[in-house]
Amino acid sequence: MTDARPTVAIDGPASSGKSSVGAAAARELGYRFCDTGLLYRALTGLALKSGIDLSDPVGLVPLVAQVELASDGDGRLSRVMVDGVDVTAEVRGPAVDRSVSEVARVPEVRAALLERQRALAADGGIVMAGRDIGTVVLPDADLKVFLDASAEERARRRAEERGLEPDSSEAARILADLRRRDDLDRNRPVAPLRAAADATVIATDGNTFDQTVAAVVAAIRAAETRRIEATASAPAAAPASAAVPAPAAAPASAVVPISAPPPGPGKGRPKPLGDGRTWFIRATDVFGRIVWRVFARVHLSGFEHLRAIDGPVLIVANHISNADPPLIGSFVTPALDRRIYWLGKQEALDWPVLGALIEHNAVIGIQRGAADVDAFRSAKRVLDERHVLIVFPEGTRSPTGRLQEAKEGTTILALRTGARLVPIGVSGTRDVWPRGQKLPHPIRGRVSLTVGEPFTVSAPGAGAERRAAQVAATTEIMRRIAELLPPEQRGFYADAVARTGAPGGPDGDPVR
Ligand code: CDP
Ligand code: CDP
Repeated sequence: MTDARPTVAIDGPASSGKSSVGAAAARELGYRFCDTGLLYRALTGLALKSGIDLSDPVGLVPLVAQVELASDGDGRLSRVMVDGVDVTAEVRGPAVDRSVSEVARVPEVRAALLERQRALAADGGIVMAGRDIGTVVLPDADLKVFLDASAEERARRRAEERGLEPDSSEAARILADLRRRDDLDRNRPVAPLRAAADATVIATDGNTFDQTVAAVVAAIRAAETRRIEATASAPAAAPASAAVPAPAAAPASAVVPISAPPPGPGKGRPKPLGDGRTWFIRATDVFGRIVWRVFARVHLSGFEHLRAIDGPVLIVANHISNADPPLIGSFVTPALDRRIYWLGKQEALDWPVLGALIEHNAVIGIQRGAADVDAFRSAKRVLDERHVLIVFPEGTRSPTGRLQEAKEGTTILALRTGARLVPIGVSGTRDVWPRGQKLPHPIRGRVSLTVGEPFTVSAPGAGAERRAAQVAATTEIMRRIAELLPPEQRGFYADAVARTGAPGGPDGDPVR
């Protein structure tokens, strides 16, 4: 059945926010979402692998049949498959970044992909992102949005998304590549990148991500109103496509209030992530606590900080052993009484049986290759949907057991989402499951889990000032964790704790 809701085209240059803003707006309104850039990217990846000349239509066009967009399970066509294998992460990498615009300028390639994109949008209720959606693919779209921002701002965002230092050579390369790609996309003879004459242009320099999403959501709501008013005022026999602006005298009763939820549990409605503990998670926690009590003396402290915390929460912990996740999961999840989302390697989720167990414990699979980008997007989604996420800011288990210097990813995530941070310090787990050993090694030793006070970080200002504030925020996050650890485990952040004059470390009450 045709969706009565509008079709929305979002175009714009590289990194202007089409896919992230488009997907967020689609999610908020219950629309489907489609990222058409992935079609060009997958085709380019395939051509690079097969050694096909990137400007040769004879070699390229037959590859189109092997590429297919796939749903991420939430109604968003934001994954791409080649011969049934998900290559999304791989084709978002720098190799494809550099070559994709050459492939996309081949007219035969564009023609081969055109009907496919139109068919996807035919039912309405979709946000479709690309370069030529408003001008060529869907010239009759109900709403056309053109997102724009300066090249510097867009390169800065992409570098940030990839966790790169702003002044690094990689960041400079991103800016150069992005300019080159914009140039190719804008100046190609067929379907060049440009705003349609009737597009709403949204300049996003200086906008926060949420402000841009809000502007797009508002524009879509206005398009819904126009469409409903047009339908209500059109003569009964008029074809649905004869959408005309409603006359001023349109009867108010015929206008469906836009604030009402969109009709029915329509297909493609994104499935929001759940928040509560499933019976499976509860059972795993009970089992986990029994095992921990049998094999170790567990000391917990600061658990009062977990009471009644609502809204988006980012738990940050030090990481010293494979035993950390089961320890934190078993004790913190029930205390919080909310599901904790984890990011894990997609390969682990694909393991038989164990993979399903991991997945049912709210672990989100991250693809290898573009792991950072994939991880950042998934993490942000969990917090944008106001759930609880745990991350280990050091990135990997510490080889020495002492705190290592943290990556900036966690800080950027906290700044972007405004989530409340809850610090956790773990010690003793290295004795239970030492690094380099395949299996845990039970002892009746002491394991401590200490929860600190929730806090938030901010990084005001712009340019160098903002950058410095971001570095300070990372130190602040790590200092809060270090404070919960015995002094010999504070490693890189020992001085940061010493400067605040914190006492000698945690001492919890043994559990029963
Ligand atoms: O995410 P980013 O903006 O960097 O790129 P993308 O949307 O994934 O698109 C990658 C490339 O595909 C663009 O630079 C264009 O050359 C091409 N493309 C296109 O020509 N037409 C579209 N509708 C979408 C993408
Ligand atoms: O799809 P496209 O290449 O146009 O861009 P994207 O991948 O959606 O966005 C690039 C990065 O810019 C993402 O990390 C977004 O979260 C970020 N962004 C932002 O910070 N503020 C905006 N107003 C729009 C995007």
